[in-house]
Amino acid sequence: MNIDAKVLSLLANCEFHSGELLAQLLSVSRATIWKSIKKLRESGLDIYAVRGRGYRLADPIELLNQASILEALSPEKRMDIKKIDVLWEVDSTNKYLLGLARDDQEGGTICLAERQIQGRGRRGRQWISPLGGNIYLSVLWKLPFGPAQLSGLSLAIATSVVDTLHNIGLKEVGVKWPNDIVWRERKLAGILLEIGGESAGPSFAIVGLGLNIQLNKEIAADIDQPWVDLDSIAKKPIERNKLVAELISAIIQTFNRFEHDGLKPFLPKWRQYDQYAGKSAVLHLENESIPGVINGIDDHGSLLLEYNGKITRHHSGDVSLDVRHNAT
Ligand code: BTN
Repeated sequence: MNIDAKVLSLLANCEFHSGELLAQLLSVSRATIWKSIKKLRESGLDIYAVRGRGYRLADPIELLNQASILEALSPEKRMDIKKIDVLWEVDSTNKYLLGLARDDQEGGTICLAERQIQGRGRRGRQWISPLGGNIYLSVLWKLPFGPAQLSGLSLAIATSVVDTLHNIGLKEVGVKWPNDIVWRERKLAGILLEIGGESAGPSFAIVGLGLNIQLNKEIAADIDQPWVDLDSIAKKPIERNKLVAELISAIIQTFNRFEHDGLKPFLPKWRQYDQYAGKSAVLHLENESIPGVINGIDDHGSLLLEYNGKITRHHSGDVSLDVRHNAT
């Protein structure tokens, strides 16, 4: 474990720890502790220092732990998992698994990180991924057919993420096409699906989930759309390792179901969770923006947009609400 991770795990309980005690416990110098605290603060963590008492984290944090995640998984789900790599820091958990997929790593390989330096979002965007208790989770899965048959998979995964959040009491969470997880029209989580393989199969899919739990407001100032985190909307503290285990179970279950039945069984749920149907919106494509009223999705997961009585079908793009028409 890297020294910053060790310092943070000692501070995680939100009690005061003197620099001297931390140095003693970790067998390093006080200067090393000081440097580590500085780095953790620069990463966005709020750490107080009080003369005579030491350092204290402003908000408690449950660090990711492979053993706790495995323990929270049912024995049946554990059988589907080849390995779980829990990293302190990585460029991107998706990119990490992409490297393993190319080396023919088996499906059921999972990567989590406390922080991503180059978190990837959809359409080449960045996913802001600071330290501080969010979830950056990727799952690698192998499927017997070609990548072309994977369209709709990310919508299916989105419904399973919403199910998981409903199960912990967050009933107002829903989806926004194609696979954003939203709460009252603010983005709570995003899914990035990266696929590859032979056109006739087999293929691999990497599902990357970024879920805001405790997002530092200053760092999040760079996010270009309304957002929210779980800590602001949940009634009780989030048990991060338990939630990760539930998300992994839901994602694996979705892969298994999708492999046999495709998107079809997930369509009713997606339509039930769609928070944007009937709203005026703008669909942003690479070189143009198309206005219209959202008419839900077709059975393949394409967006249906109605404009001047005509419905058009779209496979890609980003939707934003047209505030002029939806104003109350
Ligand atoms: C989006 O743009 O909405 C998708 C965001 C996906 C972010 C997650 S975080 C874990 C995984 N690793 C990445 O680099 N991206 C995905």
